[in-house]
Amino acid sequence: MSKGKLQKFAEMETFKNVFQYPFSVISEVPFDMKGHWREEYFHNSNPIILELGCGKGEYTVGLARIYPNINFIGVDIKGARIYTGAKQALEENLTNVAFLRTSIEIIDRFFGPDEVEEIWLTFSDPQMKNVHKRLTSTFFMNRYRHFLIDNGLVHLKTDSNFLFTYTKYMVEKNHLPVLLCTEDLYHTNGLDDRTREILGIHTYYENQWIERGLNIKYMKFELPHTGELVEPDVEIELDNYRSYKRVKRSSLDKAK
Ligand SMILES: C[S@@+](CC[C@H](N)C(=O)[O-])C[C@H]1O[C@@H](n2cnc3c(N)ncnc32)[C@H](O)[C@@H]1O
Repeated sequence: MSKGKLQKFAEMETFKNVFQYPFSVISEVPFDMKGHWREEYFHNSNPIILELGCGKGEYTVGLARIYPNINFIGVDIKGARIYTGAKQALEENLTNVAFLRTSIEIIDRFFGPDEVEEIWLTFSDPQMKNVHKRLTSTFFMNRYRHFLIDNGLVHLKTDSNFLFTYTKYMVEKNHLPVLLCTEDLYHTNGLDDRTREILGIHTYYENQWIERGLNIKYMKFELPHTGELVEPDVEIELDNYRSYKRVKRSSLDKAK
């Protein structure tokens, strides 16, 4: 591990807004704050919104600035990325921000029933080979149901045609109400100013994809508590710019 990363990890241990519970830790110690984030961390009764796979946390921090009366929690397994958003939130004294370092696979261990109002999925890995790891699959929707309110919102912002198409099929198959869906967000007419302001927050990965000339896609849908969720049985064309066996890693990957 590089010296820079080691320094970041050491510094992050002192951050009051970061909770580090990778699987190795949480398997030994239960998470006490499950169901009690509002009282024990935020000290208010405001809604909680999660950003899953938050990377450097641009949405978590950006939304927290716009909505001081909502609590935002960024979740990612990579500490060096979380560090950037967590430090920024501390420097700006954003008390409505927290970061959780853990695997999204075990996310339901950290939040109690109805504790979360909305979920943001920002430029999630499309996981073209493994539906069980895909954050918009029914496997994850079932996990989200453990802590998301009834008809809570799921936002997906992505460059990936594969992930977007898959999610549209998943939503359609399960009759989940779609509130907004666009394949070219930045050339969509008729968005209100508030939506534009929110969706105009660019993440680190988003900027790379925009530079490559890719359209940014966005979908917002509701997830009801009831009804068995069924996986769509479809074949979707793979994203050709995401090779499984890259001979040479792209500058994007190196920048992680
Ligand atoms: C492509 S990056 C996007 C990061 C950020 N949202 C952005 O747009 O810049 C995907 C992020 O999800 C995180 N991630 C992927 N799978 C995960 C998992 N199962 N548990 C926790 N984090 C995960 C990665 O560590 C990475 O930071």
